[in-house]
Amino acid sequence: MADVAVIGAQWGDEGKGKVVDWLSARAEVVVRFQGGHNAGHTLVVDGEVYKLSLLPSGIVREGKMSVIGNGVVVDPWALAEEIARLQKQGVSISPVNLVIAENAALILPLHGELDALREAAAGDGKIGTTKRGIGPAYEDKIGRRAIRLIDLAHPGSLKEKVEKLLTHHNALRRGLGEQEITPDELVAKLKEVTPKVLPFAGPVWKLLHDARKAGKRILYEGAQGVLLDVDHGTYPYVTSSNVVAGQAAAGTGLGPKTSGYVLGIVKAYTTRVGEGPFPTEDHGEHGQILGERGREFGTVTGRKRRCGWFDAVLVRQSLKISGVDGIALTKLDVLDGLPELKVCVGYDLDGKQLDHFPAGMDAQSQVKPVYETIPGWRDSTEGARSWADLPAEAVKYVRRLEELIECPVALVSTSPEREDVILMRDPYES
Ligand code: GDP
Ligand code: IMO
Ligand code: MG
Repeated sequence: MADVAVIGAQWGDEGKGKVVDWLSARAEVVVRFQGGHNAGHTLVVDGEVYKLSLLPSGIVREGKMSVIGNGVVVDPWALAEEIARLQKQGVSISPVNLVIAENAALILPLHGELDALREAAAGDGKIGTTKRGIGPAYEDKIGRRAIRLIDLAHPGSLKEKVEKLLTHHNALRRGLGEQEITPDELVAKLKEVTPKVLPFAGPVWKLLHDARKAGKRILYEGAQGVLLDVDHGTYPYVTSSNVVAGQAAAGTGLGPKTSGYVLGIVKAYTTRVGEGPFPTEDHGEHGQILGERGREFGTVTGRKRRCGWFDAVLVRQSLKISGVDGIALTKLDVLDGLPELKVCVGYDLDGKQLDHFPAGMDAQSQVKPVYETIPGWRDSTEGARSWADLPAEAVKYVRRLEELIECPVALVSTSPEREDVILMRDPYES
């Protein structure tokens, strides 16, 4: 039985959380492998809304093991807050059902501050980050000066590590005109938060190997989307991690045969939060309609998401880059009632036709989408749970997308509610 990796195939917020929650009924372990609390995943279960940032979306189901892999950057304070918030909603969270990789790098308050300072200094050139310190924390990890979760277990050597880190950061802070941080104040903060997070630390690679050996099904939960990938995305308007399915191996310690099936999550139209190119963005009436009906406001920052038509060129590219076997098409219901739908099938760059998204930043912002117009449907698809419940035009839209993106649809999601899913091919049976 193949394990399944779920990844976003656009600019994030495709509905990964809902699909992972739905799929987690079929898995025993749900594991995050990259990103941090820049992610915002909304689950709706019988009307109850759960908002998750760092915790895997399997956490709301009793009896599932939730794992945060070494590829994730962990803000201990944000994690402690999220755990407390979910516990208030009646979700049980303890070291029995949550394990965090002891070798995961930590996000510290200075990372969030640096993120915000850089964004402010960049003015119009800003990335539009979530200001959660994601980029600066990954920089420290790659720079081999990060504080890792396991370091909290060794208070004796923690100060030395903090001093090394602060040599770097205080130089930056001086340059930015910010007050320096003393090692003692940071060590004191870390010691205070240690009892809230250290009990969850463990050798995730081993736990996952043991789970696999015992025949347990593992579900890998990606955050963000391929177009935000640090290599393959709209650089530099990207996040600071690899988000493609291959990262599931490096971000957990399970080897390249991690998942047998890669499920790409694809929204039936396109959204983006933050700055950067977006060829099919609609600044007019349709963008507004999509935003209102799709309730396109960020879970993490509350920012309004930019909206536009489905871009088949970008999605086809994302799916190939990430080795996607099938997609879950989400938010089809948001398109209900629109007389006509446009789909981008190619680009025009200075009169030249392109069948892929160019890598250069200038070209990415200059391409003009070439649209195909597809008839819409009047009837509602909201809450549909079978293919037969869909209007004929909706079926045609889905079929046309499959052709254009060169990938089969495994699931269709028709509302935020957990069970409102049309299953066409079970990723765990493929
Ligand atoms: P994620 O980051 O990929 O997990 O996506 P988010 O949770 O940030 O954003 C997706 C939003 O769409 C959430 O508010 C979901 O509750 C909602 N959603 C997910 N699937 C559907 C769907 O099929 N239809 C509608 N109308 N909303 C959906
Ligand atoms: P989920 O998992 C949408 C975007 C930010 C910004 C860029 C860099 O909910 O799909 P960062 O804080 O990561 O350095 O910001 O990436 N971004 C997301 N956009 N969904 C997300 O996660 C995102 N995580 C980061 O808006 O443009
Ligand atoms: Mg989100």
